[in-house]
Amino acid sequence: MKIAVVGTGYVGLVTGTCLAETGNQVICVDINEKKVKMMQDGKLPIYEPGLELLFERNIQQKRLHFTSNLAEAIAEAKIIFMALPTPPGGDGSADLSYVLGAAKDIAKLITEYKVVVTKSTVPVGTADKVTAVMKAHTNIDFAVVSNPEFLREGVAVEDFMKPDRVVVGTLDERARKLMAELYSPYVRQGNPVIFMDERSSELTKYAANSFLATKISFMNEIANLCELVGADVDMVRRGIGSDERIGKRFLFSGIGYGGSCFPKDVQALAKSAEENKYDFRILNSVMEVNEVQKRVLVEKVKKYFKGDLKGKKFAIWGLAFKPETDDIREAPALYIIDDLVAAGAIVTAFDPEAMNNVKGVVGDKISFAENQYDALKDADALLIVTEWSVFRTPDFEQMEENLKSKVIFDGRNLYDLEKMIDLGYYYNSIGRKLIS
Ligand code: UDX
Repeated sequence: MKIAVVGTGYVGLVTGTCLAETGNQVICVDINEKKVKMMQDGKLPIYEPGLELLFERNIQQKRLHFTSNLAEAIAEAKIIFMALPTPPGGDGSADLSYVLGAAKDIAKLITEYKVVVTKSTVPVGTADKVTAVMKAHTNIDFAVVSNPEFLREGVAVEDFMKPDRVVVGTLDERARKLMAELYSPYVRQGNPVIFMDERSSELTKYAANSFLATKISFMNEIANLCELVGADVDMVRRGIGSDERIGKRFLFSGIGYGGSCFPKDVQALAKSAEENKYDFRILNSVMEVNEVQKRVLVEKVKKYFKGDLKGKKFAIWGLAFKPETDDIREAPALYIIDDLVAAGAIVTAFDPEAMNNVKGVVGDKISFAENQYDALKDADALLIVTEWSVFRTPDFEQMEENLKSKVIFDGRNLYDLEKMIDLGYYYNSIGRKLIS
């Protein structure tokens, strides 16, 4: 099938590449000409495990193309995906100007029936808005479909190729058939393509992410309580997760959820509830808990150093909002760096992928190390912020040689408590016994 993807950000690129992989002809379009040129030369502008191989293969096989010309991109496409940013506007609701702008441009260009799909996470009612904007600019028949993505960064290719489910919101019969055909190679193992109306589909995305964020905030509160009552959150997590109604996944306490989706989507859903005069009380608490949790690690550090961090040296392991990505959007590391620097501390950080991105944001406020052990040189303490695999089983001897003091604040509960006792560390993690 011939497909156009408008917007080559994270979602657009993964979508376009994975759609080409099953034999579709895909043209991705972006207004950033420099980026388009780069992709035409076979260079992938983002880091996502497994994507590069597919990207290169499909370009080579001439199934994946790039252009900055929207007319060229959509001329022959049966389905046009919009994967455009929906950043939070000033009041917390999603800013739809990119989506509606593209819808208008597309409407002006079409000459035959097209299916226009919103992949971006958009508030309930957006499909209707897109339809209205398009109707104002064309007399040609079209269908607007809501098809939210559920891609996790780091495993986005796998999530696209083998989705738990595909949600398609449309009441247009022709569009429904085309979408079913398009997704059939991805759901061969029997996972469902769930068809519904546009509004339910739009809300499904927000509900899914908000529910997951709720799970995380709930566990973070349990962790904080564990510390007060002398329980171990990892035990509680295992204890409750074995109940199939609760499930084992997404119950890890830590230093708050970050990334490009959860914070934005929870906020947008709360805002949309408010606009509909509904007080979504749980969501407000989920956000409040997360704000506090992002600062829990620094609070622990401050307590240990009796409020005086001036001139103290800290090593940070991990900057990305989660492992296997260079993404630092809403990363807890940024809040931690700000708090430490504001208190007069000296910070050296290491991250396998995200250092350049952080450099772009914090400049020379902190320094960056070549490897995880160099970051520890003369440090008064190590803060573990992202659970990259390389931090899970480090060379503890090398750590000890470099650290000034054997003090670790672990925001991701990477190490066994017994082991830290044996090694003689002060080890302060989340929701577990303090080892001192
Ligand atoms: C998420 C959703 O999972 C995905 O379906 C959606 O489409 C986009 O948003 P992503 O932002 O890539 O994906 O990351 P995810 O792995 O879901 O983690 C989100 C945040 O929650 C991270 O900050 C992570 O550290 C945190 N988290 C996750 C926890 O604190 N505890 C957990 O148990 C799981």
